[in-house]
Amino acid sequence: MNTKTIVEGTTKVLVPIPPEGVSFPPSAAPVFYNPEMELNRDINVAATAAFVNRLILKLQSQRDIVPADITYVDALSASGIRGIRVANELGISAVLNDWNEDAYNLIVQNIEVNNLSETTTASRKDANVLLHEKRYNIVDLDPFGTPTQFLDAAARSAVHLLEVTATDTAPLCGAHLNSGIRKYAAVPLNNEYHSEMGMRILLGKIARELAKHEKAMIPLLSHATRHYVRTYVQVQKGAKRTDKTLKEMGFIANCPDCGYRNPVFGLAVHIDKECPICGTTTEIAGPLWLGQLHEVKFCDEVLLELEKRPLKTKEKAMKIITLCRDELNIPMFYDQHVICKRLGISASTIDSLIIALKEHGYEASRTHFDGISFKTNAEITDIERIMLSERLG
Ligand SMILES: C[S@@+](CC[C@H](N)C(=O)[O-])C[C@H]1O[C@@H](n2cnc3c(N)ncnc32)[C@H](O)[C@@H]1O
Ligand SMILES: [Zn+2]
Repeated sequence: MNTKTIVEGTTKVLVPIPPEGVSFPPSAAPVFYNPEMELNRDINVAATAAFVNRLILKLQSQRDIVPADITYVDALSASGIRGIRVANELGISAVLNDWNEDAYNLIVQNIEVNNLSETTTASRKDANVLLHEKRYNIVDLDPFGTPTQFLDAAARSAVHLLEVTATDTAPLCGAHLNSGIRKYAAVPLNNEYHSEMGMRILLGKIARELAKHEKAMIPLLSHATRHYVRTYVQVQKGAKRTDKTLKEMGFIANCPDCGYRNPVFGLAVHIDKECPICGTTTEIAGPLWLGQLHEVKFCDEVLLELEKRPLKTKEKAMKIITLCRDELNIPMFYDQHVICKRLGISASTIDSLIIALKEHGYEASRTHFDGISFKTNAEITDIERIMLSERLG
């Protein structure tokens, strides 16, 4: 396999070169490498660093601790690029695993290139076997497509933080409905807020996988960018905390005609069949996660970590995390254009709409999911009234 050296962050990484003149997707190369995911990996370095800072502070109250005492596993590592960056740029101990022989050999070389043999090991196992064998402070799943086949083992292994990417947005968002139902045991709706739907279906699945192991989940940061979802969830042990986590699960009742939506908390629930506004039969999505997607303080800590690091995607990464920090932590966002179309009016700027909603006493924010959309605690009828009065005024 031909390789070349690239630099991401402050880490040198050997990655495969596609054969001359042939264009194929990263998944068809002998070892997977996707340069497009640099943004995801840059955010990963900053988010993991922010969490490691917290963990060291917490553990230091019990014993003396250094970064190398913290363990991280990149269970689906390919070239090792994600884990090698975490090991090199954070100084924590890492296991980089891939069952593919070429990938394993490349991981070994990447550990050598960065002189990381003291803290970092290459592993060539089925990820589920590896994760069932040992507990790690931080478990990272970055699979092809869906992470679901690894979630039970990852939930069992993760002591403090679970980091998960999902690139199967079509099943998650309802475009491939049956595949999504099979993988996530949940029914999504493929409507205007399908990207947030997908994230909440994924988080709902993670919460239930953790719950089997009596582990609670606190999402610290979750972002949907391009064609993937990435989430960082803090893990806490204990039956009582876990029961509390599961209270954040539920369903969304959605009216396809008037835009009414109603989050209903619980796993055995009564949901009104008729839309209370227009009488149309509502559509139901779930079970899914209705709780927070981010912790504001954690987003601030990630921003500090991004700021101080030499990262090629810094500006873009900071923009995403700032939007995540500032968006209302409630389901689901509204698409301004969908409402305008229903009302037969033209759209204003998102900022002026947010100001108008706030002036009427509601909470409102932009959302990282989509530039023309917004979040608010106002009901659809109030949003429409405000949008119409803005046009008249
Ligand atoms: C999407 S790639 C990982 C990309 C990598 N994390 C990055 O940032 O470039 C998924 C990898 O998982 C490996 N893989 C798939 N199933 C596996 C399993 N059950 N156990 C171990 N590795 C597996 C594949 O060989 C592939 O290299
Ligand atoms: Zn309705």
